[in-house]
Amino acid sequence: RGKRAFIAGIADDNGYGWAIAKSLAAAGAEILVGTWVPAVNIFENSLRRGKFDESRVLPDGSLMEITKVYPLDAVYHSPEDVPEDVKTNKRYMGSSNWTVKEVAELVKQDFGTIDILVHSLANGPEVIKPLLETSRYGYLAAISASSYSFVSLLKHFVPIMNPGGTTISLTYIASERIIPGYGGGMSSAKAALESDTQVLAFEAGRKHKIRVNTISAGPLRSRAAKAIGFIDMMIDYSLENAPLQKELTAEEVGNAAAFLASPLASAITGAVVYVDNGLNAMGVGV
Ligand code: NAI
Repeated sequence: RGKRAFIAGIADDNGYGWAIAKSLAAAGAEILVGTWVPAVNIFENSLRRGKFDESRVLPDGSLMEITKVYPLDAVYHSPEDVPEDVKTNKRYMGSSNWTVKEVAELVKQDFGTIDILVHSLANGPEVIKPLLETSRYGYLAAISASSYSFVSLLKHFVPIMNPGGTTISLTYIASERIIPGYGGGMSSAKAALESDTQVLAFEAGRKHKIRVNTISAGPLRSRAAKAIGFIDMMIDYSLENAPLQKELTAEEVGNAAAFLASPLASAITGAVVYVDNGLNAMGVGV
């Protein structure tokens, strides 16, 4: 039987999550998606109306199938965690069972097990503010949505993962080098995510034979990245300064994820894998 993947953090066809889904589908995996609750209707309608058909084309000419889309808000563990204003928000009221625990239960009911879990989501409400001007609320919200969400997903999905399974998240070099403009505690959130990758690799590896890795990706003009406001500058900077002077495609990150999820990477866990045209290796711009 082919592998089954759950990819959290797809709401259009521009981001890394979509590209990872395609690479996994091209390698024969069945694709399940977790989409942020406020975006789930638009995403599903667009899928149904064929808006993404062009970008669904796989290398063999067939179209990627998404078996099921689950509404998900990775900031909430279980229904008890959801505050009243969110519960009664009209963008949330149309969907149900979208906390992490509930989604894991639904996936278990629907499919039994999965083999691959991908975390391709981040959110920092104050990302455009320098760290010095970031509020406690903004900082903790960035960590909650971008780092703890991975811990929470693993906690609930690892028990339904087949041994030998793999988990992947997406990180950014702002965790370890100064990237002015990546604010609001997002650099801190990525540092936490990378550190947690190691600890979770140990815990999930010993207990369930599950691998845990993170891809440190170069700049991509995704919806989330456009919201930060400096993405074009980052892409230009990379073009000018990286060892490989070409635009990074989402597909290249997707392919690295497919490799990490495959038996070819069976001894790789706890790693930060750079997929950035080598920019991380530069000491100075030239
Ligand atoms: P994207 O906009 O395609 O993906 C982010 C997704 O997170 C969106 O679909 C959004 O709806 C979802 N999301 C936000 N809060 C959520 C929540 N509470 N629950 C569930 N879903 C939620 O953008 P992109 O850039 O592809 O982001 C994917 C990952 O790649 C993120 O972790 C990002 O930090 C990382 N990354 C992106 C880079 C870039 O230049 N675009 C560079 C390096 C890493």
